Amino acid sequence: MKYSRIAGTGRYLPERVLTNAELETRVDTTDEWIRSRTGIERRHIAADDQTTADLAERAARQAMAAAGVTAADIDFVVVGTTTPDFVFPNVGCLVQERLGIRPCPAFSVEAACSGFIYALSIADRFVAGGSAKCALVIGAETLSRITDWTDRNTCVLFGDGAGAVILQPADEPGIMACHLGADGTYKDLLYHPYGASRRQQPGETEGPYIHMKGNEVFKVAVKTLEGIVETTLAASQLEASAIDWLIPHQANIRIIQATAKRLGMPMEKVVLTVQDQGNTSAASVPMALDVAVRDGRVKRGDLLLLEGFGGGFTWGSALIRY
Ligand code: UT7
Repeated sequence: MKYSRIAGTGRYLPERVLTNAELETRVDTTDEWIRSRTGIERRHIAADDQTTADLAERAARQAMAAAGVTAADIDFVVVGTTTPDFVFPNVGCLVQERLGIRPCPAFSVEAACSGFIYALSIADRFVAGGSAKCALVIGAETLSRITDWTDRNTCVLFGDGAGAVILQPADEPGIMACHLGADGTYKDLLYHPYGASRRQQPGETEGPYIHMKGNEVFKVAVKTLEGIVETTLAASQLEASAIDWLIPHQANIRIIQATAKRLGMPMEKVVLTVQDQGNTSAASVPMALDVAVRDGRVKRGDLLLLEGFGGGFTWGSALIRY
């Protein structure tokens, strides 16, 4: 077997829903502005005692049930996240311990909103290459913890959640192709200013939150995503019309519409969750996939194009025969 395939999907959204109407009472914004500029209507926010690993664990359990696997089957764990519980142990190890998965590689990938696509691509290499038999791949975030709730430019955008897939070996693809990219010269357009190593310096006033030059990010995102979907199709010698479902990162409906337009895809073939979940970074693509699998839109044999773009900048795509 030289390919990997998605054997099951899962997701978890925290209970608490934060609506645009509630945000209107907190910052100088309107439901109309948020909907028309982003497509977002509501987002989910983790409870005070919930961490990224809690969300990841819930999504993982659902994906395992869907795939019909138990902890004893899993031999590889990778989590895309920008908001880990700790500097270390990584979220992969935390999930491994909670689920009772035996010793195996477990780690997280830090690639902002492209984190799940990066994680999926890595897991695919291990499963397709024969060094793992059952990979748990997760995208999980608690972006609410690094959001400045007094900044209308960013606080209307983000939400929390987790999505997961199980990858197993297969004779036929499965994951047909993954393309990854990054360009660190854009580091100043979308960033969090502090971390474990870089602390706030005397005189620095920026808060420990997501900072984004939204308008500039928007333009590069549209251009880069158009490029990566075209590269992916060309490399696989496929026409856009062959794609059954576009499953994009859910940052802004206008970015998604631009990508779909470039592909000549009607919006009916695009999975949209941004209205209900906001931008959940690494969690958005696996959650959107799970939504469409569970509501019956995505069926076995369908051709899926997943794509993501985020801070770094990082980007990635995955072409998948589901
Ligand atoms: O997930 C990783 C990648 N991230 C993205 O892809 C996000 C990319 N960027 C975007 O989605 C959009 O740029 C935003 C949604 C962040 C902003 O939309 P925009 O259409 O680019 O608006 P803008 O930043 O150009 O701001 C337009 C106006 C400004 O007012 P002035 O200067 O024209 O008077 C802002 O101050 O809208 C104002 N504004 C708001 N007004 C009401 C900004 N945020 C808000 C708000 N409510 N929440």
